[in-house]
Amino acid sequence: MGLYTASLKCFLVFTTPESNEWFIIRPLQKFNCTATGTDLKHAGHQHFRDWSYWRTHHLDSNIYSISAVELNPVLLPLSWLLGTWGSDEPGEGTYPSIKPFRYTEKLHFSHVGQPVINFMFNAFHAESNKPLHRECGFIRVQQGTNRVAFVIAQNSGLVEIEEGELTGNQLKLQTQSLGRISFAKEPHVQQICRVLQLRPDGKLEQTVSMATDNQSLTQHLHITYSRSC
Ligand code: HEM
Repeated sequence: MGLYTASLKCFLVFTTPESNEWFIIRPLQKFNCTATGTDLKHAGHQHFRDWSYWRTHHLDSNIYSISAVELNPVLLPLSWLLGTWGSDEPGEGTYPSIKPFRYTEKLHFSHVGQPVINFMFNAFHAESNKPLHRECGFIRVQQGTNRVAFVIAQNSGLVEIEEGELTGNQLKLQTQSLGRISFAKEPHVQQICRVLQLRPDGKLEQTVSMATDNQSLTQHLHITYSRSC
């Protein structure tokens, strides 16, 4: 049994030798990123910061068991995405037909051991913090290639498959197919191009361009994020 101290929380951890299963005793009311340091073996490893890396089993109200979920090797080239990211400065929204706007955004990329990354993007009004655009979906990699596919659902009623290539730490994607609800707001999006890249300073940058019924491919969004855990 040992005492583990995280930056924000302190709680008891015990394990058996040779086991990668750890037990945590309260006070740990809820699992969050501060708890991902429990497996010291993985300290320094980047997946260590991603809570989804851990499989949790609620044993009773006071004791939790945790075991590590190994990253599927297919996802290794994209492991830099994993974790939670938040915009450090408001992102810039533009388009010829709308008033420029600013927004904040949180991104979460996780995995459960499958060769798939699960993601959620949640954008908010920069001043009021009101929820705005939301996207969620799955990322798949074609094994043995740098081909990547995003399967995306957006709260505007759009569903989309974007495909592209991973070059180093840069992902360039574009729409392969689009579907929308029958009463989606006009003008309809016809094409999306998205670039996600990990910059040398450790920040993540996203640029989204789109074409609509009325406008050829033009930038709509630009934002940078810092990893929050
Ligand atoms: C791939 C993702 C997105 C797509 C496909 C998309 C699509 C669109 C479209 C088609 C319009 C209407 C343009 C026009 O009237 O000509 C629009 C407007 C707008 N978008 Fe996005 N958007 C996306 C992401 C976002 C995000 C992340 C935000 C952040 C808050 C955002 C905020 C806005 C705002 C404020 C407007 C103007 C007001 C409105 O029409 O609702 N969009 N977007």
